[in-house]
Amino acid sequence: MTEVAVVADVARAAVELFVEATAGAAAARGRAAVALSGGSTAAPLYALLRSTDKVPWRDLQIFFGDERAVPPWDPLSNFGIAEQEMLTRVPPPQIHRLRGEAPDLDAEAARAAHELRQTLGTPPRLDLMLLGLGADGHILSLFPGLPESAQRGEEELVRHVAPPEHVEPKVARLTMTPFLLVTARNVVMQVSGAQKAAILARALKGPEDVVACPAQWLRHAAGRVVVVCDPEAASGL
Ligand code: 6PG
Repeated sequence: MTEVAVVADVARAAVELFVEATAGAAAARGRAAVALSGGSTAAPLYALLRSTDKVPWRDLQIFFGDERAVPPWDPLSNFGIAEQEMLTRVPPPQIHRLRGEAPDLDAEAARAAHELRQTLGTPPRLDLMLLGLGADGHILSLFPGLPESAQRGEEELVRHVAPPEHVEPKVARLTMTPFLLVTARNVVMQVSGAQKAAILARALKGPEDVVACPAQWLRHAAGRVVVVCDPEAASGL
């Protein structure tokens, strides 16, 4: 069951959930595996997290839900944003970025899948996946209209995606497959603004079609799913 938390401060509520999921995992298993998100909702959360001592920083294993095909120093890099805002608190060997600058993104996807299995075992299970919601219904870099957005990708784990036609930036992506979402112990999706209201309602309550609205993969998640949204984004629910 998806929980919906309607709050005034989305990033602050997401911090609470981040602490709960990672501290719980670290206490139970000695580590907390997290997939970070990109997009505009990510940076405010990371900036708040940076000054939070309740996060088990030294036990984190950091992965990325998706990445743009750019080098890590490019302002479009999801890794770059996270590094700048908070990753200095995590031991470098525990940061597993997707190499957006790789010349062969299919090979990079396979390498990253191997790294997930090596670090977390087979099949790998995340303790927390952070997500944003695209106004077109994408999550991760699973874009609407692509048949592969409907594939769980249990073997793949990480996939190379061609540049999206309708989403900025129009650069190729690497993305985790839905398998890592549906098996994660916790999924937290941050959604802000009235422009996301209709697609959030479609994601949670609309007729099911994961190709047309990949965010509907949330419905298949086995773990705890919390959608943290502001009143404007929740106005269609
Ligand atoms: C990315 C993201 C992507 C994002 C959504 C929402 O790399 O673009 O990981 O899935 O979360 O596009 O983005 P906003 O928060 O900017 O609306």
